Amino acid sequence: SWTPDHFVDSAVAALQHTIGPDDQVILGLSGGVDSSVAALLLHRAIGPRLHGIFVDNGLLRKDEFETVLKAYEGLGLNVTGVNAAPEFYAALAGISDPEGKRKAIGRTFIEVFDREAHKVQGAAWLAQGTIYPDVIESVSVKGPAVTIKSHHNVGGLPEKMHLKVVEPLRMLFKDEVREVGAALGLPGEILNRHPFPGPGLGIRILGDITPEKVDLLQRADAVFINLLKEHDLYQHVWQAGAMLLPVQSVGVMGDERTYERVVALRAVTSVDGMTADWAHLPYDFLAEVSNKIINQVRGINRVVYDISSKPPATIEWE
Ligand code: XMP
Repeated sequence: SWTPDHFVDSAVAALQHTIGPDDQVILGLSGGVDSSVAALLLHRAIGPRLHGIFVDNGLLRKDEFETVLKAYEGLGLNVTGVNAAPEFYAALAGISDPEGKRKAIGRTFIEVFDREAHKVQGAAWLAQGTIYPDVIESVSVKGPAVTIKSHHNVGGLPEKMHLKVVEPLRMLFKDEVREVGAALGLPGEILNRHPFPGPGLGIRILGDITPEKVDLLQRADAVFINLLKEHDLYQHVWQAGAMLLPVQSVGVMGDERTYERVVALRAVTSVDGMTADWAHLPYDFLAEVSNKIINQVRGINRVVYDISSKPPATIEWE
């Protein structure tokens, strides 16, 4: 029967058999479960011949890049962190349309990744954290959903660099990936994290993106996520986050009239993200989140909670 330990043993043997003794392997790390588990598996098989590339697109959660990079280094992975935030902000300047933003982010990611990949001497393979549902999705789903794994999309790199593609998690479901990750010692902090879209906060800032808006949203989002964890609610919701709306509303602070931004909180329960219900979080909890955001994040004076289910609403607002 299937066990994570058996899977690890046979996958490591297969990788060692397939990947030549001098071959170097490149892998894009996102901080998510799939790419992290793929990295640990390959690391077990070929050690430092696995070259992880982790790109900071400037659209990650607050402190995420530093925290995750440290975790990867702590696991002994050979990983290069690339701070490319300015490049992404430049590519996004003035773009408000959701698909336009996705395209700009995707294109910039490919440019940055391509540049880094070319620095690896002897690169023969591109590894990807593709899992079974991605394989199915990419052949059976049309429309916006095909962009779901866009951060795995590394453009024409395999052809251009003559890389062969290796996808060691191709046959696994998500819960199996988590079990394999646990067997390989992936910290709970990465193992149990919510899904996060490749374009990151770029599609949670409605309208155009500026570094100031990213900073505002990162701080509001961190308040929400940290309180979910403190109240033991994080594991009970499938995905959660804050959206920065392109709206200002009137408020009062002391004797002053304010005219500041609105943040919408989104938390959903779901099995696979295809359908979702808004999470029925306790009112007291929502009150605490709202007060804390409004008190601590200058520039936000109103917080609302999204009570829409999918369908017809989507999880993300863009
Ligand atoms: P929606 O908003 O379509 O989202 O209900 C379903 C799931 O997909 C994620 N999502 C994305 N992930 N690139 C990604 O990598 C994208 O462009 C993208 N758009 C949505 C979303 O966070 C949710 O988990």
